[in-house]
This record gives sequence, structure tokens and C-alpha cells, in this order.
Amino acid sequence: MKFSSSSTSVLFLLSGTVLPGQCQRDGDLFPVTITNCNVTSVIKGPPQRVVTLNQGTTEIMLALGLVDHMVGTAYLDDEIWPLYKEEYDKVPVLSDTYPDIESLMSVNPDFLYGSYSSAFSNSSIDYHSIFGEDCELVLEGRGGHNAYCRPELHDYGIQTYLQTAFCELVEHRPENLSVEGGLFAELADIGNIFNVPDRAAALKADIEDHFAKALQVSRPAVTDDPDAAIKVLWLDSWDESEPYVGACCGSPQIIMEHAGAKNIFGNLGTEERRSWEFAPWEDIVAADPDVIVLVDASWDPADEKILNLCKHPIARQLRAVRNRAYISVPFSGSTLGVKIGTLAYNLAEAMVALAHSRPLPSLDFSPIAISYDANNNFVDAKSGSQAITLSGVKVYITLPTFDATNLEETCAVDAPQIIIADSQDEEGEDQNTIEDNGDDVNSEYEVDSNPESADNEHSASTTDTTGSEENSSGGCGKKLGWTMLLFTFHWIFSEKLVVVLS
Ligand SMILES: *[C@@H]1O[C@H](CO)[C@@H](O)[C@H](O)[C@H]1NC(C)=O
Ligand SMILES: *[C@@H]1O[C@H](CO)[C@@H](O)[C@H](O)[C@H]1NC(C)=O
Ligand SMILES: *[C@@H]1O[C@H](CO)[C@@H](O)[C@H](O)[C@H]1NC(C)=O
Ligand SMILES: *[C@@H]1O[C@H](CO)[C@@H](O)[C@H](O)[C@H]1NC(C)=O
Repeated sequence: MKFSSSSTSVLFLLSGTVLPGQCQRDGDLFPVTITNCNVTSVIKGPPQRVVTLNQGTTEIMLALGLVDHMVGTAYLDDEIWPLYKEEYDKVPVLSDTYPDIESLMSVNPDFLYGSYSSAFSNSSIDYHSIFGEDCELVLEGRGGHNAYCRPELHDYGIQTYLQTAFCELVEHRPENLSVEGGLFAELADIGNIFNVPDRAAALKADIEDHFAKALQVSRPAVTDDPDAAIKVLWLDSWDESEPYVGACCGSPQIIMEHAGAKNIFGNLGTEERRSWEFAPWEDIVAADPDVIVLVDASWDPADEKILNLCKHPIARQLRAVRNRAYISVPFSGSTLGVKIGTLAYNLAEAMVALAHSRPLPSLDFSPIAISYDANNNFVDAKSGSQAITLSGVKVYITLPTFDATNLEETCAVDAPQIIIADSQDEEGEDQNTIEDNGDDVNSEYEVDSNPESADNEHSASTTDTTGSEENSSGGCGKKLGWTMLLFTFHWIFSEKLVVVLS
């Protein structure tokens, strides 16, 4: 049922990604006129020499099966989605961050595709040097004045596309962030530019399909009472005094909504349409979240947040902390990228398991044991065990050792036991809503006018909800698939040694 349809969508997605020949082209759409952040381009044929300047745009190109059009990528925030790794490896990586102008021009690009306005600013890449003069649009940013060069690039013969949530000028960004007005509109544009509208539509349908399944998992079966929704605290990072949480109006809120959860801070920051905001501990205690979503980044690991929660005099009394109701999501999972559907679905599964003591479905969750020392070196396969999905959603079966502190001992835990089990059974019997927020330590997802804020933004790619291939009743094949996929996954995501238990 839900599992077999997940498998179907995996295969479907793979066919869209790896076998581009499967998707036939529509008739000739060209010339295509696209207005993007107030820059209009007339595209006479599919660009052939694309450089993607941020991870989110790289993953969109790969998800649409457009690897043959790419001559360079840049700026990963974390590791590329496993589903696209093979295709990704075919394209030269120009830089870990933004490339310098020489590296960029050396691949003779005809199209630059960026997530953030900073990708087109002279402070990131010295575009001025190729035009011989300054670009016209100059805006005040955190680091002083920056010039933004998209119109000049078009005049120079290089087309561009910028994600509309991060248009140079606030007035060109969608008033309200949404999947429809953001990601889906962009997929449609890119589908038209590359003459693959069918693939764009299929990708959108796949994401919507996962959203629908997420709601089936999380929505109350017996009641539509909105108060029955699972209450989520989406925790990004820590200030001296207050945590920074997913607020009313950004990608965390959108992901939580699509996972069927209730963001305890869904009403925070509405005037300024904040994605993230500081929240006092008293408000968190009063809201009594069922589940805490922790954003996991290499520079700000989820395990450290657990340690901080357990040490904090107020936080350690929270029901969710005592119940060990933590879900970690990778940093790249907290933006509106192509993996958002899978992520919402896996979050729904995890939240229902934690909030209602249901088993985690074995089709999506695989057990792993990991422990590292303070230097991120693998130390012990037995100290902590977790269950992880291919989308990177992770649940703690036992708490790990972090920086030589055994969290299982340090944290006051009276948690119910978390088990992973086959669950063909009752579908849709769980109910709740989930809220999630992505986290980002250094930047703000808020669509402010500061181009610098974009640097740590990222988007995620679509991956599938399940690690099992073809036949979910075939235990051996499934386990082998999981083992290999997870190993790859961990290797590329955390670069930590992972021991797969099964
Ligand atoms: C939008 O683009 C047009 C040219 O296409 C330009 O005249 C106008 O000033 C731009 N608007 C803003 C707010 O930059
Ligand atoms: C970028 O352009 C602005 C405006 O012309 C200028 O003030 C700034 O110094 C430039 N920055 C760099 C790094 O070239
Ligand atoms: C954006 O959100 C605000 C506040 O929720 C709402 O009043 C407004 O109508 C929305 N605008 C659009 C274009 O949806
Ligand atoms: C899965 O395997 C079982 C047993 O080998 C077989 O009967 C069934 O047809 C298979 N299903 C699919 C979808 O391949």
C-alpha cells in the first residue's frame, strides 16, 4: 500500500533521473521567454553549458535528468543526495564555494543557475573583470556595497536563473513562501528552458505524491481534531539565552505543514514573515512539544544539541527531552528543494513513531550504530544506535556518546523503547502533525535583502522514501540494498565511519 507505492515512485524517479530517454520531449517550445526576478531572457534553445552555482540548483538539474547539459557545479552545503550521486560525479566541481571568475569562464558557460543572489554578485565572483565595467544594480549588503550582474551577464551572452525566494530585490520575491510559488514554479521554468516539461511535471507529481502520503501517515484516523496534531519544536541553534526555532513563515513551517504536524511556533514572527526566530524557554515549556526536530550540520551537530538540551535546567524537564523524542534532519533538508516530499514523508513516519509509540517502518528506517570522539573519529559501534532513512531523517534508539559524554547516561531518559518493524498493517492509523524546521547556523532563511545571508542557504534534492528496491517482500535483497545504500549515504553525508548492524 503505502510502501509499494513508495517503491513505485522510487523507480519512477529513477527513470526520470537516470534514464532521461524515458521522458519524451514535447514539441519545440522555443524561443522560450522567461522573466525571473525581473530579468527577462529569450531562450532560443536548451542551454548546453550550464554551471550550477549552489547545491539546490545542482540537485534540480540532476533530478530533471539534465546532467548532459552541465559543465560545472559549485558550492555544496552538505553532501549531494545519494540518488543523484552517480550523475553528480560526472560533472566537474569548479569549487567548494563560489568559483573564481577564471575557473568559471574556463568552462565557457552559456547558463548560470544559482540559488542565492550572492551567486551573481561581484563580491562572490568577480564578474566586473569580464565586462570591464561595474554592474548597474548595487545594493547595500552586510559586507558593504555589492553589485549584481544578471542583466550584464545576459547582454554578454550568458543566460541566468535565480531562485525567486532570493531575488536581488525583495519586491521581486514571492510575497509568501510556498512550495507552489517557489519550487514548483521554478521546476516549470527549468522544464521549459530545457525542453523537458514532462520531466518537470513528473517530479512535481512525485513530490506531491509524497506529501499526500505523509498526511496519510500523520493525520488522525479517528478524528480531525486539529489539536490532535503532533506538536513539533524545530530547533536550529542556540544563543546564550534562547534557542533559535522554526517560526511562522519559512521552509521549516512549510515542511512541517506538509508532514501533517503542528509547529509550536507557527504564529511566531508573522509581522516580519520570519523563517526563524528566537523563542524563550518558557514558551517552549508552555507549548509542551511532542517531538523536537534537530538540524544536523557538520559545524553544529544534532548530538551536541541533545547534550545541550540534557544539560539545560529547563529543557531537560521537557516531556520530549525525557522521552528522547528527537528527530534529526540534515542541514540541506531544511529548504524547499527537490527532496522535500520524501523528507516530509519520512518525518511523518518518525513523528508518529515517537509521539504514538509506533514501530518505525523497516522499509524506510534502517538501524545503524555510530559513535565518534570529539574529532569525529569513529570510536565505538555499540555506544549509540539510531534509525535512519535515505532522506537523512534520523531517530535515536539509544543516545550516542558525544565528545566523550555518554548521552544515554547524562540525559534523564524515561523514553519508551523505539523499535523498527515491518508494518504492512494499519495504514493511516497514526495521526498527528509534524512541524519541522531546517536549521542554519550562520544564516537566516528569511528573504531579507542581504545577499550575504544567502551563503549558507541550501536546498535539498528529492530522494526516495525507501531504500528497498523492487520487491518489499524479498527480505534478502532488501537488506542488502539497504546496507549498501546506507553505507554510501553515511559516507557521503557525514564522512563518519558507520557500522551497519543488520
Ligand atoms: C525591472 O526591469 C525593468 C527592465 O526590464 C527595469 O526598467 C526596471 O527598473 C526593473 N525594476 C526594478 C525594480 O529593478
Ligand atoms: C562590487 O561592486 C561595488 C559597487 O560597484 C563596489 O562598491 C565593491 O567594492 C565591489 N566589490 C568587489 C569585491 O569587487
Ligand atoms: C501572504 O500572507 C499574509 C499573511 O498570512 C496574507 O495576509 C496574504 O494574503 C498572503 N499573500 C498572498 C499573495 O498569498
Ligand atoms: C515479490 O516477490 C514475491 C515472492 O518472490 C512474488 O510473488 C511477487 O510477485 C513479487 N512482487 C513484485 C512486485 O515483484
